[in-house]
Amino acid sequence: MTQSSEGARGSKEALCSGLRAAIPALRLLTDPADLEHYGRDWTRRWVPAPLAIALPASTEEVQAIARWATTHGIALVPSGGRTGLSGGAVAANGELVVSFERMNRVLDFNAVDRTLTVQPGIALEALHKAAAEHGLIYPVDFAARGSCSIGGNIATNAGGIRVIRYGNTREWIAGLKLVTANGDLLDLNRGLIKNSSGYDLRQLVIGAEGTLGLVVEATLRLTDPPPASQVMLFAVPKMAALMRVFAACRSRLKLSAFEFFTDRALHHVLAHGAQKPFEEIAKYYVVAEFDAADESQQQAALEVFESCLNDGLVNDGVLSQSEAQAAALWRLREGITESLAAHKPYKNDISVRISAVPDFLDEMSALLTREYPHFDVVWFGHIGDGNLHINVLKPADVADAEFVAQCERVTKLLSDVLARHGGSISAEHGIGLVKKAYLSGTRSAAEIALMRAVRGVFDPHGLMNPGKLFD
Ligand code: MLT
Ligand code: ZN
Repeated sequence: MTQSSEGARGSKEALCSGLRAAIPALRLLTDPADLEHYGRDWTRRWVPAPLAIALPASTEEVQAIARWATTHGIALVPSGGRTGLSGGAVAANGELVVSFERMNRVLDFNAVDRTLTVQPGIALEALHKAAAEHGLIYPVDFAARGSCSIGGNIATNAGGIRVIRYGNTREWIAGLKLVTANGDLLDLNRGLIKNSSGYDLRQLVIGAEGTLGLVVEATLRLTDPPPASQVMLFAVPKMAALMRVFAACRSRLKLSAFEFFTDRALHHVLAHGAQKPFEEIAKYYVVAEFDAADESQQQAALEVFESCLNDGLVNDGVLSQSEAQAAALWRLREGITESLAAHKPYKNDISVRISAVPDFLDEMSALLTREYPHFDVVWFGHIGDGNLHINVLKPADVADAEFVAQCERVTKLLSDVLARHGGSISAEHGIGLVKKAYLSGTRSAAEIALMRAVRGVFDPHGLMNPGKLFD
C-alpha cells in the first residue's frame, strides 16, 4: 500500500469516527461489500467508491447528517431502491451515501383528503398495497415497482406505463418534506390542493435528482380504482402503422396504457422465459390496456381490431380473457428490461410530443440503422405518451469503453434529431451522470443557467448529489 492510499484510508476512518461521534445512534456501514452494493444503481458503468453508507432512521438523523456533511464538506448521495438507469444514485467519489432503506413506513392515511403520507424508502409496490387497503390506488406504475422507492420516483419524476391516463409522479405529490444542505426542514405545500402563494418549491424538488436536498417525507394523492380492464396485443407489420393503431384505439376505447416493442425485444423476452404470443413474428407489437367493464367496451375493442386488420395496420391480435392472460401479455412488455440486463445495454430514454412521433420515428430509425449497422438495437416504450426506449446491446467482443464511446457518438446525433423535433433526451429516467453531455439539446442555455443558479441557492457548497444533472 502506498503512503497516499494509507493516508486516504486514515482520513476516511477519521471522518467516519467523527460522524459516529456526532450522531451516535446512526447506523453506518463501511464494509467493502456494502460500499459496492449501495454505491451503484442499475447502470453498471461506474466503480462505486463511497466514503460510507448512512442508514438514518428518522428525519432528525437526516438533518444531523446534512449538518455534519456541510461542516466537513462531504458530498451526499441519496439512495432508494437504486433501480435508476442514469447513474443518479452512483457514489464513485468518496461521498456519503444516505440510504433511505430504514425510512420505509406509511406514516398516515387521510380518508378525507385521500392522501397517504410515506417515508421516502417505501417501495412503489408496498405503496400500491397500502393504498389498496383503503380501497384506493396510487396510479403511477412500472416494471421496477417491487424494488424502486418513492424517493427515487420523486427524484426522477418517474412516469411508467399509465402516464397516458394518470400523468407522471409530479401529478400525485401533494406535499414533500425536504432536508436542505444546511439541515433545515422544509414542509412544501402541506398537502394543499389550492395554494397560490408564490413559487411551488415542491414541484422544483420533483425531478431534481436529489440536487436540492433530501426528501424525507411525501404526501401522495390517491384516487378511485379504475373499472375492470382488458389487455390487447397486436402484431403490427410496419412502423408507420403504430400511431395509426394508437389513433384507432384512442377513438373508441378508454385507454390506460399503450406500449410498443419490436421483434428484437420479443426475441430477448422470449429467450428469458416469456410465452410466444403468435405463430408468425411481426416487426412491431403493441400492448393496449383499456376499460372493459361492460360488453359494449369489449365489443368496441373487437371492432377496433377488425378495422385495423381490414386497413392492414395489424396482422394479428389477442384479447385477454382473464387476469392471468392479461399478466402474460404484460410480461412481454414489462420483462424486456430484465431480459436485456445481461447484455450491458446502453440506454436512451427519449420523448417527443405525441403528434411528432411518426416523423421522429422515421428520422430516428434511419439514424439508428445507419449508425449501428452491427449492434443489436432494441426499441420499446410508452409510445402512447411519446416516450421511446432504445437499448443498444454490447457485443461480447467489443470492450466496454469502446462500446460506450460509439453509443455516445450516436447519442449526440440523436440529441440533434430530438432538438429538431422539440423532444427531450430524458423522458423519465433522469439525466444523472449518463446524459449530462446532452442536456443542452433539450434545455436552452438560459434555462440551464437558471437551473444552475437555483441549485446554488439550495446548495451553496455543492454537496447535494454533485456531478448529477449538470456540473
Ligand atoms: C421500461 O419502461 O421498461 C424502462 O423504463 C426502460 C428501460 O429499461 O430502458
Ligand atoms: Zn419506461
